[in-house]
Amino acid sequence: MSPNIYCVEALNHPVFKTLSHVAQNLDLECYVIGGYVRDHLLNRAGSKDIDIVAVGDGIALAQALADALPGASEVSVFKNYGTAMLHYQDITLEFVGARKESYTHNSRNPKVAPGSLADDQNRRDFTINALALSLDQNQWGALLDPFTGVDHLAAKLLITPLDPQVTFSDDPLRMMRAIRFAAQLDFTIDPQAWLSIKNQAERIKIIAPERIVDELNKIMSTPKPSAGLSLMYEAGLLDIILPEVTALLGVEEIEGQRHKDNFWHTLEVVDNISRTTEKLWLRWAALLHDIGKAPTKRFDPKIGWTFHGHEFLGGKMVHKLFKRLHMPLNEKVKYVQKLVAMSSRPIIIAEDFVTDSAVRRLVFDASDDLEDLMTLCEADITTKNPKKQKRYMQNFATVRQKIAEVEQRDHLRNFQPPVDGAEIMETFGIGPSPFIGQIKETIKEAILEGEIPNQKEAARALMLKKGISLGLTPINSAL
Ligand code: CTP
Repeated sequence: MSPNIYCVEALNHPVFKTLSHVAQNLDLECYVIGGYVRDHLLNRAGSKDIDIVAVGDGIALAQALADALPGASEVSVFKNYGTAMLHYQDITLEFVGARKESYTHNSRNPKVAPGSLADDQNRRDFTINALALSLDQNQWGALLDPFTGVDHLAAKLLITPLDPQVTFSDDPLRMMRAIRFAAQLDFTIDPQAWLSIKNQAERIKIIAPERIVDELNKIMSTPKPSAGLSLMYEAGLLDIILPEVTALLGVEEIEGQRHKDNFWHTLEVVDNISRTTEKLWLRWAALLHDIGKAPTKRFDPKIGWTFHGHEFLGGKMVHKLFKRLHMPLNEKVKYVQKLVAMSSRPIIIAEDFVTDSAVRRLVFDASDDLEDLMTLCEADITTKNPKKQKRYMQNFATVRQKIAEVEQRDHLRNFQPPVDGAEIMETFGIGPSPFIGQIKETIKEAILEGEIPNQKEAARALMLKKGISLGLTPINSAL
C-alpha cells in the first residue's frame, strides 16, 4: 500500500462532489478507479472516461446521480454485467458494483458475487489499473493502492495484481491489453506476466473478435505500431489473429537469390506511414499491403523471386480478413482493398519512364484516394541502400509532379464522362443497349490514352464516329 497519497486535483470536476453526496445519501462507499486515475498520475491529457466502483449497487448509484445532475443523460443499464453508464457534458461515467468474480475456463461469462473494494481491485488487470481514489468526504482524494501500482507507474511496469496465470486466464483479452499498454505508454511487461502470456496465447481464441480489434486498433494508433505488433508476434498472438501477416516472415534463398523478409519490411512500412498520417485505415493498408505475397511467391530461375498478382490477391484477402475479425464491411474495407490492390502502381510508374497515360490512369483509378496511395507507396520504401532510396524518392517526386500537371489539364479525379448515356441514346435515337457502354468505354479510353482531351466537343465527335462504326445512324437533329 502506498503511503498516504492524495490526488485532490484529479477530482476538480463538479460531478465528483455531487456523486459523493449522492453516495452518502445512499450510504454507499464509492471510488474513482482504473484508467482515469492512472492517466492522472501519468499526467496524460485528462481522460473523459471515468470508471466508478461502488461498494454496493452501482446501478442504483448511477440512477441517483442522474436524478441529482441536471443535464445528465439517461442511464444505460447493462444488467448482465451489473454495470451502468451515463453521459454528462463531455464526460462518460461508468458504474459498477464492487465484486468478486470467477470465470469458467472456456467462457468469458463470469460468476459474480458482491465484494469489497479490495476484492474488486484484486480482479483488475494490472496494478496500475487497480488504483482507486476515495470520494468519501472524510478522505477526499485518498489513493487506495494495495499493490504499489504507483511504484509500478514510476518503474513503467505492467504487473498483474494476482498470479498472472489467473489474471490472464480470467480474461484473455488482457494479454492484448498488456501489449497495448506497453506500446501506448512505453512500459515493460513484467517477465512473469510475459511468460504467462506466451504460455496461454491460444486462449485469445475465446475472445470476441470485436474486442480484439479494439485493442489492435489502439496499437495501430500508437506513434510506432511495430512496438506492439512485434510484441504480439513474440507472444504468439499475431499468428493467431493475423496469420496472413506472419506468413510473410522469413527469407528464402535459391541459387544464391534471396527475397527480403516481407514481415519485418511490413512493420517498417507501418512505422514509416505512422510518421506521416494518423489515419487508422491507411495504417491498416500499410499493414496488409503485402499479404498477397506469401501465397503468390514463386522462384523463376530466369528472373528470381516473383510475386505475380499479389496485389490483386491481397485485395481479396483483405475482405476475408475483415470479415473474419468482424471489422467494418463498408467503405473502410473497400478503401483498404483498393489501396492494397493498387499498392504497386505508383512504383511501377516511378521505375519506368513516366508516361502521361500511365499517370492519367493512376489518377483515374485512385480518384479521391490518390494522396493516400502516394503516401503508402512512399512509406513502402525501406531500402537501406542510400542511392536506391534517393532514386525512388526522386522518381516519386516526378510522379507527383506529373500528377499535378495531368490533374490541372485533364480534371480526371472523380471522372464524369463528358458524354453520358442519355446523350448517346438521344443522338442515335436508341433505347438502353450494350452500344452505350461500348461508346462510353471508347471515350474513356481515348481520354486516358491522351488521344482526345477530356472535353465535351472532342468526346461528342468520337461518340459519333464510334456509333457509326457500330452501325448506328445519328438522327438528323443530333448533327
Ligand atoms: N479492466 C480489467 N480487465 C479488462 C478491461 C478492463 O481489469 N479486460 C479494468 C481495469 O481496471 C481498467 C478498467 O477496467 O482500468 C477500465 O477499463 P477500460 O476503460 O477498458 O480501460 P482503461 O484502463 O480505462 O484504459 P483506456 O481508456 O486507455 O482503454
